[in-house]
Amino acid sequence: MNDKQLKKRSIRSFVKRDSRLTKSQQQALDNYWDKHGINFSSDLINFETLFNRHAPVIMDIGVGTGDTTFFHAQNHPENNYLAIEVHKPGIGRLLNSIESKHLNNIKIINHDVIDVLTEQIPNHSLSQVFIFFPDPWPKKRHHKRRLINNKLIELLKKRIAQNGRLHIATDWENYADQIQALCDGDQELLNLNSNDHSSPRPNWRIKTRYETRGIRLEHQVWDFCYALNNSVKN
Ligand SMILES: C[S@@+](CC[C@H](N)C(=O)[O-])C[C@H]1O[C@@H](n2cnc3c(N)ncnc32)[C@H](O)[C@@H]1O
Repeated sequence: MNDKQLKKRSIRSFVKRDSRLTKSQQQALDNYWDKHGINFSSDLINFETLFNRHAPVIMDIGVGTGDTTFFHAQNHPENNYLAIEVHKPGIGRLLNSIESKHLNNIKIINHDVIDVLTEQIPNHSLSQVFIFFPDPWPKKRHHKRRLINNKLIELLKKRIAQNGRLHIATDWENYADQIQALCDGDQELLNLNSNDHSSPRPNWRIKTRYETRGIRLEHQVWDFCYALNNSVKN
């Protein structure tokens, strides 16, 4: 399947909603978007030009409020970060965080990650990808909306660098089962915790409101870490 065919899916993993922005979020979008945001387009991004240096690029998909991206980027100035989110309030918040610490290693795209991966990201250019607490779409009839499915994984396998890492966390058991079945069954992905299948919670993953809510609901949390061995195919 080529990339355009992989992108072709009528069902999105999010619902467009009228996002209410606080004054501070709106001001951040007005004042800082041009500095830290990248508009969606069909042009491939040149990461060296974008960040003005050569460094590993970590993509955080569905960043919500952006707290994980911000925390990681602050603690790893040696990496570049690409935050992807469809809703504006979290982007406003992340822009304010970036400015408060004068970070220059985060860029943000406000668009569906499927389009971003298809159009803007060069092959084998991402050193790590984070997908933390993707919307669970718990009702069975909504499972088709889940972000992590074979199309997303096929795209990611092309965009992640050789030996790059894919980190996933969810607190929904049947989503965890689905992720594990999909990724463990893929020859190009190596589960880095093959004994127990899910991985220990990485100490660098901060607890966002989604994990806190899961724990409050007495959900278990599953972390997965896969290494990409795309030499199998390419
Ligand atoms: C449950 S939140 C998790 C936020 C964050 N990763 C965390 O751990 O706190 C999932 C986020 O993914 C975003 N999202 C869902 N589908 C997306 C897509 N196709 N492209 C980009 N963002 C998406 C949603 O808007 C939402 O903010």
